[in-house]
Amino acid sequence: MSASVDSAGDAASHAAVGTGVRPSTGPDASTPVPALACTGLVYSFKQTRAVDGIDLTVDAGSVYGLLGPNGAGKTTAIRAITTLLPVPAGMVRVFGLDPARDPMAVRRLLGYVPQQLSADASLTGRENVFMFARLFDVPRSRRAARVDSALEAVGLSEAAGRMAKTYSGGMIRRLELAQALVSAPRLLILDEPTIGLDPIARTSVWDRIGEVRAATGMTVFVTTHYMDEADQYCDRISLMHRGRIRATGSPAELKAALNSTMLDSSGATLEDVFRHHTGDTLDEPTQGGMRDVRSTRATAARLR
Ligand SMILES: Nc1ncnc2c1ncn2[C@@H]1O[C@H](COP(=O)(O)OP(=O)(O)O)[C@@H](O)[C@H]1O
Ligand SMILES: [Mg+2]
Repeated sequence: MSASVDSAGDAASHAAVGTGVRPSTGPDASTPVPALACTGLVYSFKQTRAVDGIDLTVDAGSVYGLLGPNGAGKTTAIRAITTLLPVPAGMVRVFGLDPARDPMAVRRLLGYVPQQLSADASLTGRENVFMFARLFDVPRSRRAARVDSALEAVGLSEAAGRMAKTYSGGMIRRLELAQALVSAPRLLILDEPTIGLDPIARTSVWDRIGEVRAATGMTVFVTTHYMDEADQYCDRISLMHRGRIRATGSPAELKAALNSTMLDSSGATLEDVFRHHTGDTLDEPTQGGMRDVRSTRATAARLR
């Protein structure tokens, strides 16, 4: 089966990025423009400084994981990056573009799968994806083909005519992936894409993402609190805790750095790395975090 959401007819839409808007060159022309760059990003909810000055650079074409326990500030960071929250301080660039100045241009580059479930239970799979195609301004003449290829890419062609409320949790997550892929994004942002799924459904979500990346070169920025997932699928990881980034590197680099400081140099896990940098474990929700998980699960239960 083909994973190509960005079919031949759409090559132009990728090629047009950066020519239609503004030249997105780095400080020197030989430096490739990162898919995402943030410096000093801050966001507060009244008393809570949910994002407390984070810096990160996501190379184009990579899979980047923001790893942290519930309440770390991952969703807030994503909402600021995706233009859903105004950024009060700090810099965000998406392929060189400033979301504050050019929100529409930035949104055209992004696909977003929110943590809160976003599929409409009373619509069919195909109708849900169609709605996103209209929302993201996929040209009318290409809509049907794009919707079909997005559904095919996530393995939902056969179930596309059924109402989403008949889908399993894993199928719903894949449907949401199709919704985000229908606009052929250059940067796919996934907030806890596999929360609450069983291991087979989790693997299936990641396999589909991998197939689309192989076909399109799409960059993926993902949050998770599953360390095994981050270890297996991410090229680079930032560990986030209480609004701050505590360490950044490839999973191998992070583990090797810890191994070199341990007398007993048996292999460190990412859990060990996390504990080393934060004194905390990923399983322990910090304040407020469970609210999210509970409401996510409640929505999932309603859809079923
Ligand atoms: N809408 C909101 N109003 C007030 N506080 C919030 C809101 N959303 C998140 N927070 C708080 O901000 C902090 C970070 O939350 P969040 O970004 O959801 O973390 P994560 O996605 O890592 O679980 C938490 O302390 C949380 O309680
Ligand atoms: Mg979250």
